[in-house]
Amino acid sequence: MWEFHQQKPDDSADNSDGLYDEEFKGHRDAKPHGSSSVGMDVAFPGFEHVYGIPEHADSLALRSTAGGEPYRLYNLDVFEYELNNPMALYGSVPLVYAHSANNTAGAFWHNPSETWVDVQSSKSSGGGLSALLTSFVKSASPSEALTETHWMSESGVIDLFLLLSDTPLGAFRQYASLTGTTPLPPIFSIAYHQCRWNYNDETDVLEVDRNFDENDIPYDVIWLDIEHTDGKRYFTWDSNKFPNPQGMLDKLNAKGRQLVTVVDPHIKRDDNWALYQRVRDGDIAVKSHKDDGLYDGWCWPGSSVWPDFIDPAVRKWWANEFKDYVAAYTWNDMGEPSVFNGPEVTMHKDAKHHNGWEHREVHNLYGALVHQASWDGQLVKSPQRRPFVLTRAFFAGSQRTAAVWTGDNAANWDHLKASVPMVLSLSITGITFSGADVGGFFGNTDPELLVRWYQAGSLQPFFRAHAHLDTRRREPWLLDAQYKEAIRSAILLRYTLLPYLYTQFYLSARDGRPVMAPLWVYYPKDEATMDDQHLLGPDLLFKPVTEAGATSLSVYLPKDSIWYRHDTWEGFGGGQTVSLSVSLTTMSLFYRAGGIVARRDRPRRSSAAMRRDPVTLVVLLGGRDRRASGHLYLDDGYSLEHKTSSAYLHCRFNYADGSLTNTLVHSSPAYADADRIKVERLIFVGVRTRPKSVVLPDGGGRVHLHGAVPAAGDPPAQPARCQGLDCPPDGRLRQRPRRTVAACG
Ligand code: GLC
Repeated sequence: MWEFHQQKPDDSADNSDGLYDEEFKGHRDAKPHGSSSVGMDVAFPGFEHVYGIPEHADSLALRSTAGGEPYRLYNLDVFEYELNNPMALYGSVPLVYAHSANNTAGAFWHNPSETWVDVQSSKSSGGGLSALLTSFVKSASPSEALTETHWMSESGVIDLFLLLSDTPLGAFRQYASLTGTTPLPPIFSIAYHQCRWNYNDETDVLEVDRNFDENDIPYDVIWLDIEHTDGKRYFTWDSNKFPNPQGMLDKLNAKGRQLVTVVDPHIKRDDNWALYQRVRDGDIAVKSHKDDGLYDGWCWPGSSVWPDFIDPAVRKWWANEFKDYVAAYTWNDMGEPSVFNGPEVTMHKDAKHHNGWEHREVHNLYGALVHQASWDGQLVKSPQRRPFVLTRAFFAGSQRTAAVWTGDNAANWDHLKASVPMVLSLSITGITFSGADVGGFFGNTDPELLVRWYQAGSLQPFFRAHAHLDTRRREPWLLDAQYKEAIRSAILLRYTLLPYLYTQFYLSARDGRPVMAPLWVYYPKDEATMDDQHLLGPDLLFKPVTEAGATSLSVYLPKDSIWYRHDTWEGFGGGQTVSLSVSLTTMSLFYRAGGIVARRDRPRRSSAAMRRDPVTLVVLLGGRDRRASGHLYLDDGYSLEHKTSSAYLHCRFNYADGSLTNTLVHSSPAYADADRIKVERLIFVGVRTRPKSVVLPDGGGRVHLHGAVPAAGDPPAQPARCQGLDCPPDGRLRQRPRRTVAACG
C-alpha cells in the first residue's frame, strides 16, 4: 500500500532537470516532494508471449518495445486515438500474463501512478527475480525463450504480485482473489443497447423504442447522453426536452426495457445550482496546488470542479446524490479525469486530494472510484436491484463495479478490427464485461461496415451501438432491407444465446474466468496467438468479418477439438485453418463438440419478455468418447436475491453412453420460475447412433438430430444428417414425458 511522505525542499534545492518544478506545453507541474520513480524488471523465462496491460489500441500479444516507445499506462481522454500504438488510453490495468503450453505466469504491478512498461523477448536466460520464475517453469518448459518486462512508475511504492499457475484459468483465479470478479450483471445489460449522442427528447426516445417493435428487432436499453441534462448539470433533466422523465421511464419499463443516463464526474460551476453549492461549501472537491482553492478546469459544461473521489466520505456523498435522481442506470464518462484545458487533457499532477495526496499518486485510480461510488449510488436508490454502471476510465478491480467500453473509436474497418484485441486484452485482465461502440463513434459508417460491426459486437460481452453527435442517424431500420435484415439477425442471434452468455457471466463471477477469451485460455497447449477471433466461454468460437467486400474468411480451429458451424452444423477437426465463403449475413460462429449449449430460440422484444421462455439445448458430440456437458444458470435476471436468498437454478447437463441427464447443482424455491422453465427442443449434433435415453426433455418439444462428425483428426464431416437412426422424418420424439429443467435432478 502507498505511504505519503511530506518532504518539502528548502529554497536551495536543486531544480535542475525539473526535479521540483517542470513546465509541460504551457502547464506547470510543481513537485513539492521532489521527483521520484520506482521500477523493477520481471522476466518470464520459457515464455515467448506476454499479454495484458490494457488499455492500448494494439495487438493482444504485446510487441517488443526495443527501440520504440514503452507501453504507457496513464488514463487519458484521447481524441481520435491511433491504432497499433502503445500510447495511453482511457484506462489501465497494470497486469501482464505470460503464457506457454505448460505454464501461465502473471505480474500485477499494483501502482496507480503514471506507468511505463517495456517488453523484450530474447533467447538468453534471466537473473535476479527471474530465478524464481525459472525454478517454477524449469521442469515443464525447456524452451530458451525469455520475455522480459521492465516496469517504471512515477511515484508510489513497489507492490508486486506474481501469479504462477499451470493454466491461464488458474492464473486468472489468483488475480480474481486479489482484485475481485465481475458480479453477475442484470440480464438486460448483456442484451442489446441502443445509444447515440443524443436522443433529442422524449418523443425521439419513444419513437426509437416504437421502431424497434415495428421492425421486430429486440433491444433492452436506450441511452441518454449529456444533452438530456439541464445545461450539463448531471443529475438534472432538460425540462423542455424531457418534461416527464419518470413517465418516460415508466413507459420503457412497462415494455421490460431500461434507460441509462450519463453522469459525468465534473460539476458545473454554477453558484445557483444546489449541487454545486454543496460541492463548493463542503470539503468535497479536488484542490488546486497553487492556492488550495477549488481545482478549476474546463469540460462539457465549461468551468467545472471535480469531486475528490479519493475521499471515502465524498464517495458516500456522491452515492447519496442518486437517491432522488429520476433515472435508473448509469453511464460514467470522462473519469480519466478528462479536463479539456489540462495537461494532456487531464488533471494537473500537482492537484491535491484528500489527506494531501497529490493527483500524480492516484491518477489511474480516480475513474475507478467514480464508478464505484455510482454503483453504490444505485444501491442507495434501489437496494434490491443489481446495479449497472458503464465506465470509460478504469483501473485494476474496476470489474467489481462497472462494465467498460473502449471509448471513442472511429467508423472505419481498422477500428472494427482493433476492437477484437482491445476487448480481449480487457477480458483477460479481469475486465470481463467490455465492448466497443458498435458502428464506430466518429464519422459516418457505410451499411456494410455497420452490418459487420453489429455481427462482431453481437458476440462481445458488452453490446452497444453508439455514435457521435455529428453523425447521421443509423438505427437499423434506416438502412436498406438487406442490411437491416442482416443486423436484425445478428441481434437475434445474441438474444438466442443469452442463456449461455448469462451462464458464462455466472461462472465468471465465481472464479474470474473471462467470458470472451483468446483461444489459448481454453486451449492452453495450442500457443496460437491470433487475436482476430475469439471464444465465448469454452463452447463457442467466432471470427468476425472485418474486411470490406469479404467473400471468404479463414478461421483457425484449435488443436485437439472438433467444431460445428452454427448455421449448417457442418463439422471440422481442429488444428487447421478452414476457409469459409461468406455472404453479408454470414456469422462464422462455431460450437464445440463436447459442449452442451443452452439457448432461447423464440424471438421476443427484450430479454425481460424471454424470462420464462423454454430452453433449447444443443448437445454437441464428436471425437472418440461421444460425451458432452454444459451448464445452465437461471434466476430472475435483475434482483440481488440470487445472492441474498440463493434464488437461482444451476443445472449441469451431461451426455455419456448415449444418455442425456441433468444434475441439479442448485435449485431454490426462492426462485419462483424454476419449475416453469421447460426444455422445448433438443438438438443433437454429431450423433452416430440414436440417444438411448433422454431423461430431461419436455416431450412436447422437438428433438433434432444432426449426424456425422468423425473423431479428431479424421477428415471433415459430410453435411449434417441423421445417421443410422430410425428417427422420424421431422425428428420428433413424441413419447417422452413432459419434464421441467428443475425437476430433473
Ligand atoms: C465522450 C464519450 C462519448 C460521449 C461523449 C459525449 O466523447 O466517449 O461516448 O458520447 O463524450 O458525452
